[in-house]
Amino acid sequence: MSVSSASSSVTICVIGSGYVGLVAAVCFAEMGHRVICVDNNEAKVAQLQRGETPIFEAHLPQMLARHLNRGVTFTTDLAAGIHPAEAVFIAVGTPQGSSGSADLSYVEAVVSQIAQAMNGYKVLVEKSTVPVYTNEWITRCMHRHGVPSDHFDIVSNPEFLREGTAVGDFLHPDRIVVGANNDRSAALLRRIYAPLTTGAYYAQPDALPGPCSTAQPASLVVTSAQSAEIIKHASNAFLAMKISFINAVANLAEAVDADIEDIALGMGLDARIGPRFLRAGLGYGGSCFPKDVAAFSWVAEQQGVDFHLLSEVRKINDHQLDLFFEKIRSALWTLRGKKIAALGLAFKADTDDTRDSPAIALIRRLLDAGVAVAACDPAAIDAAQRILPTSDALTFADDPYAAAEGADAVVILTEWKEFATLDLNRLNRALKFPIVIDGRNLYAPAVMRDHGFTYVSVGRPAIYASTQGRPRKNPL
Ligand code: NAD
Ligand code: UGA
Repeated sequence: MSVSSASSSVTICVIGSGYVGLVAAVCFAEMGHRVICVDNNEAKVAQLQRGETPIFEAHLPQMLARHLNRGVTFTTDLAAGIHPAEAVFIAVGTPQGSSGSADLSYVEAVVSQIAQAMNGYKVLVEKSTVPVYTNEWITRCMHRHGVPSDHFDIVSNPEFLREGTAVGDFLHPDRIVVGANNDRSAALLRRIYAPLTTGAYYAQPDALPGPCSTAQPASLVVTSAQSAEIIKHASNAFLAMKISFINAVANLAEAVDADIEDIALGMGLDARIGPRFLRAGLGYGGSCFPKDVAAFSWVAEQQGVDFHLLSEVRKINDHQLDLFFEKIRSALWTLRGKKIAALGLAFKADTDDTRDSPAIALIRRLLDAGVAVAACDPAAIDAAQRILPTSDALTFADDPYAAAEGADAVVILTEWKEFATLDLNRLNRALKFPIVIDGRNLYAPAVMRDHGFTYVSVGRPAIYASTQGRPRKNPL
C-alpha cells in the first residue's frame, strides 16, 4: 500500500544502486513514490530485476519484494530513467582520490549523461557525499552541455544512513537535510519526504517500526546547498572524532589500569556528550569515515582554514590498529608460524561490506608477519575473498569454533552478535592455547578469566591465564 495520494506521488530516478542508491530507491517506493533506479553494472541490475538484493541489509529483501515492478524498477538505460522523472538522485560512489580529495569523476560522468538526456525541468539531487561547492560544479557541467539554467535546479540532500541499519535509518531519520538555493526545488524535496515529515507513513499498519511516529514525525531542515554539503562532511568528521577521542582515552586507561567501558559509561551519561559512538576498539573503518575525514580535511586546506584537528583524528585512528597488532604480538611472543583465528571480516557488524575494514587490514598484517589465519564472518566471506590475497596461509571457516581449531589464539575483529555470545568452554577446547585478543571489547574480563583465558582487550586491564595473581605489565 502506498502512503501518498496519486497527486503527491513523485516520479524519481535514482542513479546508482549501491548501499545508498538501492536503499533510497526501495524506501522511496515504500513511501509511495514511483522510482526508476539506474545502474551501469549490468549484472547488478539483472540481479535486482530478479528480486535479489546484492547487499546484506536488514529489511531490504522483503521491501524490495513488496515494491519490485510496482513502485520500483531497475534499468541500465539512464535516459529511460531520467525522462519521466521530476527528481534525479545521484547516488554513485565518491571514493578517496589522490591527495585525499573526493574523486568526483563518477558524479561528473553521471551529470554529463543526465545533461544529454534532459527533456524538461528537473531537480538534480546530490545524494552522494560530496565536498562543498559540488552543486556549483554540477551547474557548470550542465551549462557546458548546453542545458539552460531554467531547466534544472541542484539540491544537496545528504544521506546519513548507516550500513546494517540502513532501511530503518532512511525511514526513521534523525533529520532530513535539504540544501536548496530556491523555493521551487525545496518544495519538491518537501513533497518527496512528506510521508515521513507529516507522519503519514508511520500511520500505515505495515510501516517499518522505529523511533519516528505520527506524533513525532521526521524533521526536515532546509539550508543553502553549501551548508548542506558541509553538514554531511562535518557530521561524519565529528563522529570519527568521537571514536578517536575514546580510543585515545582507552590508551590512557590501559596505561593506568582503568577501564574504558566504565569511563565511556560515566562520560556518556552526560546528555551533552551522549553514550553513542564511544565504543573503543580497532578504530573506525568502512567506505565513508576514512575517505570523508580526508576529503573534509582537503576542503579546509583548499580554503586556507586551519583544521589540524582532523589530521589528529586520522593519526589516532591509524595508530589504533598498530597498537592492536602489537597486542597480538605481545600476547603470542613471536608471530611467524603461528595460527590465528580471526573472528570478523566486515568493517562492522550486520553488513557484508569489507571496504576499508580494520579487520581486513589487520589480517593482511598478520599474513605479512608469517601467521596462518583462519577467518570467519557471518556475511562478509565472499566480499573478503575478493580483496584478500589467495594464499595457503589464509583459510575461511564456517563458524568460530572451526576457525579456532588448533589455533594459537583468537582475535575478535568485528562486533557480530554471533561473536559476543560464544560458547566459551567449547572455544577453549578448540584452541591450542586459550588466548583471546579482543578488538571490540565483547566480553567482561572477569568472565574470560573464569573460563581460563588469557584475555587482552582495548582500554581494560589484560587477564593472563597462566600467571598467578596480577601479572607484571607487559610480560615481554
Ligand atoms: P556503492 O559503491 O555501493 O554504489 C555505487 C553504485 O553506483 C554502484 O552500484 C555503481 O555500479 C553505480 N554507478 C557508478 N557509476 C555509475 C554510472 N555512471 N551510472 C550508473 N550507475 C553508476 O556506493 P555507496 O556506498 O552506495 O555510496 C554512494 C555515495 O553515498 C558515496 O558518496 C558515499 O560516500 C555516500 N554514502 C554512503 C553511505 C553508506 O553507508 N555506504 C552512507 C551515506 C552516504
Ligand atoms: C557512517 C555514519 O554513522 C552514517 O551516519 C553515515 O551516513 C555513513 O557513515 C556514511 O556517510 O557513509 P557506517 O560507515 O555505515 O555509517 O558505520 P558506523 O556505524 O558509523 O561505523 C563506522 C566505523 O566506526 C565502523 O568501523 C565501526 O566499527 C566504528 N565505530 C563506530 C567504532 O569504532 N566505535 C563506535 O563507537 C562506533
